[in-house]
Amino acid sequence: MTEPTPQKRERWQTRTGFILAAAGSAVGLGNIWRFPYLAGENGGGAFLILYLLITFTIGISVLFAELVIGKVGDRNPIGAFRALGGGPWTIAAYFGACAAFLVLSFYSVVGGWTLAYIGKALTGTLGGANAETARRTFGSFVADPLQPVLFHGLFMVLVVAIVGRGVQRGIESAGRKLMPALFLLLLVLVLRAVTLPGALDGIAFYLMPDFSKVTGLTVIAALSQAFFSLSVGLGAMITYGSYLHERSWNLPHETLWVTAIDSGVAITAGLLIFSAVFAFGHDPASGPGLSFVTLPTIFEEMPGGAFFAVAFFVLLAVAALTSAVSLLEVPVAYFVDERGYDRRRTASLLGVAIFIVGIPSSLSQGVWADLTVFGLGAMELADFLTVKLAMPLGSFLLCLFAGWIAEPKLAAALLSEEGKLGAVFGIWKFVCRFVAPLAIVWILVAGLLD
Ligand code: PHE
Repeated sequence: MTEPTPQKRERWQTRTGFILAAAGSAVGLGNIWRFPYLAGENGGGAFLILYLLITFTIGISVLFAELVIGKVGDRNPIGAFRALGGGPWTIAAYFGACAAFLVLSFYSVVGGWTLAYIGKALTGTLGGANAETARRTFGSFVADPLQPVLFHGLFMVLVVAIVGRGVQRGIESAGRKLMPALFLLLLVLVLRAVTLPGALDGIAFYLMPDFSKVTGLTVIAALSQAFFSLSVGLGAMITYGSYLHERSWNLPHETLWVTAIDSGVAITAGLLIFSAVFAFGHDPASGPGLSFVTLPTIFEEMPGGAFFAVAFFVLLAVAALTSAVSLLEVPVAYFVDERGYDRRRTASLLGVAIFIVGIPSSLSQGVWADLTVFGLGAMELADFLTVKLAMPLGSFLLCLFAGWIAEPKLAAALLSEEGKLGAVFGIWKFVCRFVAPLAIVWILVAGLLD
């Protein structure tokens, strides 16, 4: 058994509440904004297959490891690592918390863009008359030294408001309200998109794999996308796992649910975007501008486009918000659990700090575009350090820690409680000890040599 928890902690109220909150963390800009443009640049269906393969082998195992460590450790990632025999391994948890802070600093900038774009969609100022006007509208908005910074601030205010209210009244309640709305919006949008004349070509591009586009870099992109999308490698899911009741629900089932919802939304978002892009003869490999530049021109041409434009940017904003909440919760949980700080105060102070650290990311799209380190602007640098480096590395260390160091304690706690777990636990242990760490190293090395 682990030592008793330092103070009485909040718990998820219901199983559905937990699944929706965890799915809210997983489903984010990664699914709706990032996944489709990555697929568009990396051979469509080929990327989809790679991504699904990695998600349902390595990704799901790392997710299970995080949830179990949180549940059995029964506190924030740093405390949980310590309670499960951490020693030097605890450093990985500290790293994760810092990385969560850094991810949120630029994630919130893009979150701010989604809020601003809801406003533009409502007022009909998306600039979608043609590709050129849409590009100029987006370009001059993100390059503005003031507006996107203010929206980044507004986005952080929303995140702090939710996290400050606590696990049940804040995070769980937001998930229960926002996630069903997200599913509904996505359904409406995808039904509209796949019934557009010409959508079939997009679906064919998306589902027919072109393996000639697959290189080592594609595999790395699929791997880091799988981790990013499942929210693993930083401790966010450890934190959410720690709010599970001791006599908990069936953890393998919940892990499967969250994984299925996460990849289900990504697949659907891809379907939505490629149908629309092909129906209107646009380029699927438009990169990060796909959501903010290509789609506005499509909404302009589409019957009822003004409505679908608002729906799409609300969808994007909701997805971003529930993910951002889980990022802020990582450092907040640490200060609340380990230092006994007040939740609301901590969330506010961290929120201000994250806002400030995110400002260079915002300015890197305009006035500070020339300010680079190793040729990377502030936002690219933060993205590289976290999504490409810290998250796969964090997952690597987490697997080794869970599979080799914490395993006896995890097994004792889980197998006594969830009796039927035997076979699943055995497979998971094998993946955590050998398959996942080797695959992560192999993929990173092969990709870098490519
Ligand atoms: N999974 C989120 C997304 O897809 C991002 C995220 C990463 C959230 C890590 C929390 C932790 O957008």
